[in-house]
Amino acid sequence: MSKLAHIETSVAQSAAEEISAYMAEQEKKSLLRFLTCGSVDDGKSTLIGRLLYDTKLIFEDQLAALQNDSRKHGTNGEDIDFALLVDGLEAEREQGITIDVAYRFFSTPKRKFIVADTPGHEQYTRNMATGASTADLAIVLVDARQGILRQTRRHSFIASLLGIRNIVLAVNKIDLVDYSQDVFETIVKQYQEFASELGFKTIQAIPLSARFGDNVIGPSENLGWYEGPSLLQHLENVALDDADATRPFRFPVQFVNRPNLDFRGFSGTIASGTVSPGDEVVVAKSGKVSRVKRIATWDGDLDQAGEGQAVTIVLEDEVEVSRGNMLVSPDNRPEVADQFAAHLVWFSEAPLIPGRSYILRTETDQVTATITDLKYRVDINSFAQEAAKSLDLNEVGVVNISTQEAIAFDGYKSNRSTGSFILIDRLTNATVGAGMIDFALRRASNVHWQALDVDKASRANQKDQKPAVVWFTGLSGSGKSTVANLVEKRLAALGKHTYILDGDNVRHGLNRDLGFTEEDRVENIRRVGEVAKLMVDAGLIVLVSFISPFVAERRMVRELLGDGEFMEVYVDTPFEECARRDPKGLYAKALRGEIKNFTGVDSPYEVPENPELHLKTVGRKTEELASEVEKLLTDRGIIFNFDHSSWSI
Ligand code: ADX
Repeated sequence: MSKLAHIETSVAQSAAEEISAYMAEQEKKSLLRFLTCGSVDDGKSTLIGRLLYDTKLIFEDQLAALQNDSRKHGTNGEDIDFALLVDGLEAEREQGITIDVAYRFFSTPKRKFIVADTPGHEQYTRNMATGASTADLAIVLVDARQGILRQTRRHSFIASLLGIRNIVLAVNKIDLVDYSQDVFETIVKQYQEFASELGFKTIQAIPLSARFGDNVIGPSENLGWYEGPSLLQHLENVALDDADATRPFRFPVQFVNRPNLDFRGFSGTIASGTVSPGDEVVVAKSGKVSRVKRIATWDGDLDQAGEGQAVTIVLEDEVEVSRGNMLVSPDNRPEVADQFAAHLVWFSEAPLIPGRSYILRTETDQVTATITDLKYRVDINSFAQEAAKSLDLNEVGVVNISTQEAIAFDGYKSNRSTGSFILIDRLTNATVGAGMIDFALRRASNVHWQALDVDKASRANQKDQKPAVVWFTGLSGSGKSTVANLVEKRLAALGKHTYILDGDNVRHGLNRDLGFTEEDRVENIRRVGEVAKLMVDAGLIVLVSFISPFVAERRMVRELLGDGEFMEVYVDTPFEECARRDPKGLYAKALRGEIKNFTGVDSPYEVPENPELHLKTVGRKTEELASEVEKLLTDRGIIFNFDHSSWSI
């Protein structure tokens, strides 16, 4: 077996002492994490396949299968099609075995490597960001025939945002331009001009042919004019940023390890710094102080542990440390805040909408978050700051974010693992963006909730009612306001204290600056949700009548309120019926194309999934519909001692 062996193969085939010798040798070697950027056509898969193949890392049986496949499907005649090797693994990805990014391990006598293989076409940026957050180096692939493309710039820019310091500019398919030095040098010059602003520590340009292997592992006769290293030589020798032991200690707690009553430890991987028994540590969010008693691992206790090590820390005291918290050094603490500024890379086909709530996940925390302000979008070519209302697929912007609870973090520049996050869509669960935190916003730490002596409960008691929001949603003209109006009349007759927030009315005042684009509707509902919340705090029964077409915002308002305080009433009138009734003549105009973004015509309405009440209005009287709402309020204990038969209205 070759010395350049895949770890697993060697382990399987070696005798016991060889294994331990091998392992010892492996442990001494440094580890380089890298990823490749470029589209499939640039030869990314072929390059990774070539690297693995030429360093003899492919299992024999895989190789035989590859030769067969190449004959069947390959694009290279009798040659082996290396792209098949890597792309073949996409099948396992589809079966859900690996998510987003496949990590491949290989080693040479000099170094160990982890390649984040980030497949995909349109979704490429997303996969890249997932793979890049731990990478030391990025190989930016360029097709020699095409030169620097827009996406070369985008990938480099994102690599720089993600804190990757070392770049290999791999000018691939150099065979197709007759191994031309001129072509190579023109591309390199162009790239350097662009990349000089990106703050990379090293940029190594290498001409190569992934298909024929020129300059991948060793030098190539075809490239006699090139004096630099081959790709593998460079990967083996590029200087790494060593873990800096002087950085502040950060230990995000992944889980509380409590196998029995005598042991309680906190497990996770040290994000930065070092720790020893006896060291004082602080729980980031609560500020509680304790000391490290033990650092436990599978192989026994340690005297010291540092960056990248997975350990279980036992403290002297019984302090509360839940998942989502961090143990940190007392003299250099992370920020704890619920508002911060960040760079955001957007991955989703559906645009980013300020005001909409997303799930924000850091290494340890998961909280609800909203983009409160999109400050600007960054032009990838010129780095200019452009005004923008939303971010589209693959765009980068600078935003302010507000989270529902405070999280502990560092600026991304000082700590890549405690300074990064992803955003997840609440309905589809897809990762829609990746962020790098710039700094906490001062206003967050200087504004504190003011506790008042007269509270919601006493205000509600005084009115002899349980405050709540009854949220009517449905198409324009579906009858929301008509039903809400009658319900309010009946409640008033009962002596209840109410208020109606009606879309048309609120849009005359508080929301007069908003129109009907998706962004404006989201902001419309956010504001009215906040107002409804204040009114609930005032002890009122609030009837809200807004189209509120999106599931995400209705859910956001539901979460803004306490348990049982929010009741969604779906006023279900088919589009055709609304258009027939057309009380304000708007449908006629919209159908003639005179009003843009009209709900049901050229703007969507998302039907409620689980409303507390589903009112089908066709063929029913307003009185009956209002009675159904009252019954709901009685069932939910919002109004008491309510006798339906006594109604005369
Ligand atoms: S929402 O979608 O943002 O919740 P909201 O309930 O505030 O809408 O306002 C809807 C009312 O605005 C409608 O009942 C209608 O009278 C009026 N309107 C004017 N233009 C539009 C439009 N393009 N789409 C829907 N409603 C519109």
